[in-house]
Formats: sequence, C-alpha cells, structure tokens
Amino acid sequence: MTDQAPAPYAGPERVLSGVQPSGALHLGNYLGALVKFTRLQHEIDTFIFVADMHAITVWQDPAQLASQVREITAAYLAAGLNPKVATIFPQSAVAAHAELAWIFNCVARLGWLDRMTQFKDKAGKHKERESVGLYTYPVLQAADILLYKATHVPVGEDQKQHVELTRDIAGKFNHDFDAPAFFPLPEPMIEGPGARIMSLRDGSAKMSKSDPSDYSRINLMDDADAIAQKIRKARTDPEPLPETLDELKDRPEAMNLVGIYAALDGRSNAEVLAEFAGQGFGAFKPKLADLAVAKLGPVGEAMRDYMSDPGEIDSILAAGAERARSAAAPTLAQVKKLVGFWGA
Ligand code: TYM
Repeated sequence: MTDQAPAPYAGPERVLSGVQPSGALHLGNYLGALVKFTRLQHEIDTFIFVADMHAITVWQDPAQLASQVREITAAYLAAGLNPKVATIFPQSAVAAHAELAWIFNCVARLGWLDRMTQFKDKAGKHKERESVGLYTYPVLQAADILLYKATHVPVGEDQKQHVELTRDIAGKFNHDFDAPAFFPLPEPMIEGPGARIMSLRDGSAKMSKSDPSDYSRINLMDDADAIAQKIRKARTDPEPLPETLDELKDRPEAMNLVGIYAALDGRSNAEVLAEFAGQGFGAFKPKLADLAVAKLGPVGEAMRDYMSDPGEIDSILAAGAERARSAAAPTLAQVKKLVGFWGA
C-alpha cells in the first residue's frame, strides 16, 4: 500500500471565537476581536460565546459573574453582532464544552502545554499556587473551537499559540482515532493593524484588562473626555511621524498610535503614515482622539443601552445557547463513538 496524505476536512466553513468576562473590555479586545466578529458574521456561519468557564480559572466573584457575562454580550451587540445572524451564547450553558475538553485532556501532551507562554506569563514564579484549570485552559479553548468544527478563529495576536495548539489536538485526535478528516485544522485570523494593540503607557506591553494603570488602556465604556485625555497623556517620543513603516520599527509607542488610528479607520498603517508623515504628536494626537471618540463613543452608549435591559440580554443568550447545544450535540456524539464510550 502506498502512503497517502489524509483527505482534507471537507465540512462547511464556520467561525468561532469568544471573550472572557473577567474585566472591562478595552480597545484591544474591540479592534483585535469584536470588529472582526461583526464583519465575519455576514460572510460565514458565526458562533461567538462568552468564555465564563475560562474566566473562573482565576477567582471571579460569584455575585458578579453573571452580570459580567451580560456586559460582554452587550459589547457584542453594541459592536454590531446581530443575534439573528450570529449565534451568541454563554460557554457554561453548553455542557458539551466541558465533556470534549476532558477527552482532549487525554489527547494533548503535557509537553505541549508546558510551552504555552500565556500560562507562564500569568502564573509567574508561583505556578504551584495556580488552579489546574489555568494550566489546561488552552485545552478547553480547543474544545470550544472544535466542538463546532470551526475552520476560522478571529483573535488577537496573543491567542495565536492557543489556536496552533488546537490544530495539534485536532491532528492528533484525527490520527489516533483513525478519522483523518474528522476535525478541521482551524486557521487563526489575526491579520490587520488591530491584532496587537499595546499599552498607552508602554509600547512594549500589550493593552490588557489586568494592567493596574487605567491610563494604559481605553475602555469601551469610557466617555469622550476620558478617551481624549488618555490619548493626550499616551506616551510618545519627540520625533515627527516618518514616511515609512521601517522608520517606526524602534518607536513602539509611535507605531502603536499609528496602528490604532489605522485600525479604527479601517486603513493600513502605511496609508495613515502617508497622510501624517512630518507631523508631530501635538498635531496627530488630537486627530486620533477625535477619531477614537467618533468610533467608540457610540459603542459605549449602545452598550449602556443594552445593559439597561438585562432581561433582553438573557433571552438572547438563552436562544443562542439552545442553538449552540443543537450544533454541538452531533460532534460530541460522534466523538464519543470514535473514542469507544459505552452506549455511544
Ligand atoms: P480575552 O478575553 O483575553 O480577549 C478577547 C479577544 O481580544 C483579543 N485581545 C487583543 N487584541 C489586540 N490587542 C490587544 N491588546 C488584545 N488583548 C486582547 C484577544 O486576542 C481575544 O481575541 N482565550 C481567549 C478566549 C477564548 C477563545 C476561545 C477565543 C476562549 N475560548 C476559543 C477564541 C476561540 C481569551 O482569553 O481572550
């Protein structure tokens, strides 16, 4: 017999992604993830969830968790996700995520998880004090994606390694259970200037929910004054903007502000430079602030509106959960059969 390459996955294309309800959403989440979800929902069957099971890998106040889930949902809706088009649901409402994650815990190798940089960053020097869940977190993420046989995963740059691990788990599952085209090998969708938004205080650190300085990030719920003030105070250098991207290489703060402008305006970094080359930050920052207020102001307002009606959000989540459970059930049933579980 000759060795043949396995048949490629032939199922339909599907998008899946999610956000953790573990703190206020910021500009990085918006540009790296939410804007892409909104665009993709019109192109491909799209599943977007709130990753509450991931959130509890670090302590979350039980009295707050459900309202944090509603807040992320409000942000999805405010960014333009349409619950009639995309399936929007809370992860914990679909038990199959946990079931598939267990099976994947038995497929993934310790060595693979040992390489995950996000765990190393989050755990720091005291990994023995972290939850086991924080360590196996990327395995649950693989289950989120593969339960729906998602082929495309829109995320920011920081999630690339987790999507690559998902591909490894899919490949090993397909191989071990002799089902070569069962799971797709999903593609991360990371392109564009919004994929890695950096802190406004330090161009070498990513903008993050957990940064102690609120001046490091623009929150989606910030009002116009706060947005403008944070941009005014953003760290920069004294040089004017150059003509080429190459000249921005060693100027991370300048690069970040150009990237934010480009992502907010749906343009490339090069196009932004072509317009602003030669101008200093005294001129550029007010234009960036105006653009940010014009783009984000209405999102924050819409979020507040949605959040004033939690009953409506809950009914959107309940309907999404129902759809997600129906989409997930056949995959989990097939997986149980392939694994050889009793009764499957
Ligand atoms: P989370 O909640 O940390 O972030 C949500 C999304 O925002 C992106 N992001 C950024 N993009 C650009 N610049 C930044 N500074 C920035 N900070 C965050 C993240 O890349 C992400 O796309 N593990 C995921 C949630 C998750 C998930 C999944 C995602 C769970 N299961 C399955 C995709 C598929 C997370 O913690 O994202």
